[in-house]
Amino acid sequence: MTEDRDGRIITFYSFKGGAGRTMTLANTAWILAANGKRVLVVDWDLESPGLHKFFRPFLKSTDIATTQGVIELISDYCWSATRQVQRPADWHREYARVGVHTVSIEWEHFPGDGAIDFLSCGRQNRDYSALVSDFDWDNFYRRLGGGQFLDALRDDMRRNYDYVLIDSRSGLSDIADICTVHLPDILVVCFTLSDQSIEGAAGIATQIADRYPDRGIRICRSRCGWTTPRRRNWTRDAPSHDTGSNVSRSAWPRRK
Ligand SMILES: Nc1ncnc2c1ncn2[C@@H]1O[C@H](COP(=O)(O)OP(=O)(O)OP(=O)(O)O)[C@@H](O)[C@H]1O
Ligand SMILES: [Mg+2]
Repeated sequence: MTEDRDGRIITFYSFKGGAGRTMTLANTAWILAANGKRVLVVDWDLESPGLHKFFRPFLKSTDIATTQGVIELISDYCWSATRQVQRPADWHREYARVGVHTVSIEWEHFPGDGAIDFLSCGRQNRDYSALVSDFDWDNFYRRLGGGQFLDALRDDMRRNYDYVLIDSRSGLSDIADICTVHLPDILVVCFTLSDQSIEGAAGIATQIADRYPDRGIRICRSRCGWTTPRRRNWTRDAPSHDTGSNVSRSAWPRRK
């Protein structure tokens, strides 16, 4: 594996669920790999894992069931952080290696270095939901130095991939904050044409842009859904068919 790729980390986020976020991510990953890029896709929607379904049948279901992922990476670090032992300042880097937990998509036709590796939410056994729901994110950040661990994880992912695509939790939560605030170079905010979806997405994009002016923010209207001829005619003929995108434009303050 070539190192020091200086890759980009891109989080796909939506304020409301069902916005087509995961499908957009999966398609983007495939297009990038088909253009010779090394891509890591990460399922960080810990409470509702689903990214692996978009890569069937190119991922073995046994791999998904048995391979560790995000929650184990974080839990292993936390376990070690609570030990009172002498160790070098960068001890945490050893725990921030994604490579040990990734599974490769089985498709041999990507050109050049093109590849997609998958990092799951975590092993899907009966302990999984308790592990996620009982996890104390406040303690992780405040007492266990979780920030330095996530920084090291970022470094590791960027070194080993051209693009890292993270599927975030929707809504407002500590888990979504890690994906939208801490990890990405670029934030893709997906939304559908409903008031709640548009206003929620605009709110998050504006907040992040105000706090981190250098963060690249991309707006992605997804799930338009005019797939049948009947609906296509209806949407084309209706004078206000593009109301949603007009609303979305007005919900976003103009930025330089
Ligand atoms: N552009 C699109 N056009 C039509 N249907 C789509 C589009 N994108 C996604 N879908 C369909 O919409 C449904 C939801 O998509 P997806 O799972 O990607 O959304 P999500 O935002 O990740 O949802 P969740 O919050 O539940 O994870 C899926 O059945 C998917 O096949
Ligand atoms: Mg999803």
